Amino acid sequence: MKLRSKDILGLDHIDADEIGLILDTAKDMKKIIKSNMKRVNYLQGKTVMTLFYENSTRTRVSFELAAKYMGAHAVNVSVSSSSVKKGETLIDTGKTLDVMGTDIIIIRHEQSGAPHLLARNVNASVINAGDGMHEHPTQGLLDMMTMREAFGTLKGLKVAIVGDIYHSRVARSNIIGLNKMGAEVRVFAPTTLLPQGIEAMGAKAYSSAEAALQDCDVVMGLRVQLERQKKALFPSSAEYARFFGLNPENIKGAKKNALWMHPGPVNRGVEMTSTLIDGDNSVINEQVTNGVAVRMALLYLLTGREEA
Ligand code: CP
Repeated sequence: MKLRSKDILGLDHIDADEIGLILDTAKDMKKIIKSNMKRVNYLQGKTVMTLFYENSTRTRVSFELAAKYMGAHAVNVSVSSSSVKKGETLIDTGKTLDVMGTDIIIIRHEQSGAPHLLARNVNASVINAGDGMHEHPTQGLLDMMTMREAFGTLKGLKVAIVGDIYHSRVARSNIIGLNKMGAEVRVFAPTTLLPQGIEAMGAKAYSSAEAALQDCDVVMGLRVQLERQKKALFPSSAEYARFFGLNPENIKGAKKNALWMHPGPVNRGVEMTSTLIDGDNSVINEQVTNGVAVRMALLYLLTGREEA
């Protein structure tokens, strides 16, 4: 089986069997990350470029490592010192990188739909590393990998996502992906940070953290995205932490073996207390490791699409 599209633009465009293929491949890739010799030649002769118009630690570095572990030429385009600063358009920048022999361009952009526009204008495969408030498909995939690793399946899992759902591309990709894989998704957020039509997206909204978390297998906190808020949508960080932050008290109703997840970067004490972040049920570090594995899998599967 192969991926159907040349690009990974969102989990909306990927079927359940393709998600299964990516997660199975990532499981094999993780063995390479855990080995002493983090080097295979699956991407020898291929060129992978990261083009990030927004800040990132986890996503950008893990894509770069994923490419390097598999022997690709990995180039990071520094947007702040590139010709973007001279007014070059996204399409012109993309076409310029494309004709240098690039096989895969990984883009993060503040505008929803920017990766889709790029993908239509270049021959290279394009991977969406987060576009505005739309999707962050590789985060959704690494989160699903982490859940599947712990429970063996995603089918029937109860997953509660808590926090700034409205601005979160991570929440959107998780809701789409988890629904495709047969999990139940619940959300709890301040009413100002809950998008309309959330039920139609496949998530049930709750009015308290306790109700949302009852008997859950997974509890996922989200970063408060102050940079995307055009006006104050809650009074203060302290107020947010009091009513919407995850803590040992309001998490008590979740299953004893529930996973505590967060995509990072985390605002400690706001979205989640340090006791949870650093606690025994936290898989936040495992999410980061799985991020490299999932990105290795995607680079491998995309470059292998055209080969016999
Ligand atoms: N989770 C995530 O996307 O983190 P970065 O912004 O550090 O890439």
